[in-house]
Amino acid sequence: MYLTRLNRLRAALAAANLDCAAAIAGPNLYYLTGLSFHLSERPTVGFFPVSGDPVLVAGSLEESKITGGAPYPVRHFVYTDADGPGAAFREAALALKLGKGRLGVEGRRMRVMELHLLEESFANPTVEPAEEFFAALRMTKDEMEIGYMRQAVQIAERALAATLPKIRAGMTEREVAAELVVQTLRAGSDADLPFAPIVASGPNAALPHAFVTDRVIQPGDLLTLDWGAATRGYFADLTRTFAVGGEMDPELKKIYELVKGANAAGKAAARPGVTCASVDAAARKVIADGGYGEFFVHRLGHGLGLEGHEDPSMHGRNEMRLEAGMTFTVEPGIYLPGKGGVRIEDDVVVTANGCESLSTYPRELQIIGV
Ligand code: CO
Repeated sequence: MYLTRLNRLRAALAAANLDCAAAIAGPNLYYLTGLSFHLSERPTVGFFPVSGDPVLVAGSLEESKITGGAPYPVRHFVYTDADGPGAAFREAALALKLGKGRLGVEGRRMRVMELHLLEESFANPTVEPAEEFFAALRMTKDEMEIGYMRQAVQIAERALAATLPKIRAGMTEREVAAELVVQTLRAGSDADLPFAPIVASGPNAALPHAFVTDRVIQPGDLLTLDWGAATRGYFADLTRTFAVGGEMDPELKKIYELVKGANAAGKAAARPGVTCASVDAAARKVIADGGYGEFFVHRLGHGLGLEGHEDPSMHGRNEMRLEAGMTFTVEPGIYLPGKGGVRIEDDVVVTANGCESLSTYPRELQIIGV
């Protein structure tokens, strides 16, 4: 499997006249090797040349991980904290023999530290961004990856189910977030959560990217929970909005139903061959027809997998066509400044003739805290 991935990368690089791709500690390196490294002040870089074995440079503490876990032959060069990484990178450069070759790097991920090491070690490298090669490689998921995402979603849903009965008006957003994190870990998530949960109540729910605050949750509030879980590095990213017991503003009820309809319409529109833009449009139409188009202020969703945001981007100008195996979020929302907001987010996978929602937690408006 990892060799297949490596060969797909090699073919893509060769077609683009690149001689080698480099990936630092993170999802691309993990995808290609199955080895996970922490991103730290000790640089870890994997080099994937079009021909010849890959090369890894890492701190000496990682050596046993590489020798014991590499899925195919890898040449590796390690360094101690006392020596620093310079010599190991120079040895790696000699081993790779790139000459005046073109080296593709993760333009959005690589740090100045690694870039300088590459510039110092390679004689005449042409370093250029190659983010899209990695993204294309990872965009369609295989059965195993979809299985991990399904598990992550199930963990996230169990965590929600365990958290909801504890939520009451009078608690702060922070207290709810703490409970949700505990329940997510208890339900079996990787300890590295995809992101810190959003718990947004009342007017705070009108901010799509709200931070958790000490606001006390009031009866009649809408409460939006946007949280994630991870299995083997694969993410779930879900959102549900609830009504906290008490008299509820009829307009909030109305926007809830519109968002629920938009979520369903987006999922119904997704299948192989249709553009990302058309899926966004199908969901957006429901909200616009309901008179709230201007309050749906973000794209319909984003690709999901080893990263919380990856390709495909589900926005109104993305003419990329969906293929079976692509995974992304469908998360329409309506945000009424000062009043409240609703977002309902599912994680879906494109199937042979439609799309399947990996998340199944009910989407009907649920009143909690009573
Ligand atoms: Co999301």
